[in-house]
Amino acid sequence: MSSYIGAVDQGTTSSRFIVFDRTGRIVSAAQKEHEQIYPKPGWVEHDPEEIWRRTQEVIAFAMEQRGLHAADLAAIGITNQRETTVVWNRKTGAAVANALVWQDTRVAPEVTEFVKRVGQDLFLHKTGLPLSTYFSGLKIRWILENVPGARQKAREGELLFGNIDTYLVWNLTGGASGGIHVTDVTNASRTQLMNLETLEWDDEILDLFEIPKPMLPSIRSSSEEYGQLSAGPMAGVPITGILGDQQAALVGQACFDAGEAKNTYGTGCFLLMNTGEKLVRSRHGLLTTAAYKFGDAPIHYALEGSIAIAGALVQWLRDNLGMIAASSDVESLARGVEDNGGVYFVPAFSGLYAPYWKDSARGVIAGLTRYATKAHIARAVLESTAFQTREVLEAMEKDSGISLQVLRVDGGMVGNNTLMQFQSDILDRDVVRPVIRETTALGASYAAGLAVGFFSGLDDLRAKWAADHTWHPAMEENAREAYYRNWKKAVTRSFDWVE
Ligand SMILES: Nc1ncnc2c1ncn2[C@@H]1O[C@H](COP(=O)(O)OP(=O)(O)OP(=O)(O)O)[C@@H](O)[C@H]1O
Ligand SMILES: [Mg+2]
Repeated sequence: MSSYIGAVDQGTTSSRFIVFDRTGRIVSAAQKEHEQIYPKPGWVEHDPEEIWRRTQEVIAFAMEQRGLHAADLAAIGITNQRETTVVWNRKTGAAVANALVWQDTRVAPEVTEFVKRVGQDLFLHKTGLPLSTYFSGLKIRWILENVPGARQKAREGELLFGNIDTYLVWNLTGGASGGIHVTDVTNASRTQLMNLETLEWDDEILDLFEIPKPMLPSIRSSSEEYGQLSAGPMAGVPITGILGDQQAALVGQACFDAGEAKNTYGTGCFLLMNTGEKLVRSRHGLLTTAAYKFGDAPIHYALEGSIAIAGALVQWLRDNLGMIAASSDVESLARGVEDNGGVYFVPAFSGLYAPYWKDSARGVIAGLTRYATKAHIARAVLESTAFQTREVLEAMEKDSGISLQVLRVDGGMVGNNTLMQFQSDILDRDVVRPVIRETTALGASYAAGLAVGFFSGLDDLRAKWAADHTWHPAMEENAREAYYRNWKKAVTRSFDWVE
């Protein structure tokens, strides 16, 4: 039997291909960034063809650097930035427009229109999601309305929709000559077009949004054989796992029991709690979403607190302000001062997601005086991620009735010791990082490996989880609550900016 499993991790900022062995150790890895396109304030696009090229490049590079061949891989899994929307031509493979990225806010007027016309309840009840600029459904609608002739072609079956998982699987399995058009339940649950209970596309919502059904992929489980790679260094290797990136991290952290949760600190920050086979409806501003479905086993659901901007704010300091040369430099800059000097940064660049869901919020820096330096701003940038996490964690505990004693964390920002200590302080509980930090790719490899018997089952996967570092809270109660009170005040200053 082949010794390894591969995982494509197509994220918001970069694409990775990682090869794991049976113990979960990384055998080979490659990563490439792609361009972020900002045509107007609030608009965020990617070129899907660039993403497809980068994906092929990282696969080829990771295979080559360790002299790996198709026969070395038992299967591959795919994990992806969720919600990001691609519409392309079935005959040519060409996208009809750039991909509309999850953070893009251009459909805000449609959100207002549907809230007025239909209200939130129908969408919340059927899909677990409030109407928001975040999800794919209204993004598809925007493309069909704004690309000349697109709706007609979609009706005739000439155009296909996919999130990035679907787009990559279609291309990897042959594209215009025989590519397979599928998605998994986790990605489908982020379109706002899938009924969370039946796991099928919802005709009523498709009618409301005027989205023709023939353009949608078929919805499958997260772990089964979808097809095989048609070309390249892995031709013939089966694709046997698909999970949205945040669900993949939940799986990679081995959170298979109800009540287990993880927080991933990447471009945004996403706290997910497994709620088992029970679909828990949020009353405190969280999303209800599919966690995973392994083959024929029942679906597991999750509650999710989504934060749009976390590591992206560090990148903004780097790219837009030129304040640091690399993301990791933010830590030494922030350590130049003892505290935030009264400065709070609310990064509502795409509005505010959980628990507020305010499309019309925009970013603010509050509490500035002549005392403030760039070091205070760097500190406020890091702290904003910790404060936002506390807000979604509090909502999670209220919705689930479960108190989290320890927070499992992963993602690029957990290399930042200052942030993780402050996170533990502001939550007043332990924060623990596992040995394997690439939990997103790892989770996709778990889903793929389960389908082909590479892993024997969930206990096999649970046994692989191991702690690397734990941070313990060390802040006085008074200080903690004063910080959090000021944060809450700063958040209100970001509200209702866009009219
Ligand atoms: N030491 C650090 N301190 C603070 N932020 C950091 C540090 N290292 C990386 N980051 C931030 O973490 C993010 C990258 O994390 P990660 O690699 O998990 O994201 P990603 O998987 O590329 O994100 P996505 O999947 O959303 O594209 C970047 O936004 C970067 O600014
Ligand atoms: Mg990622």
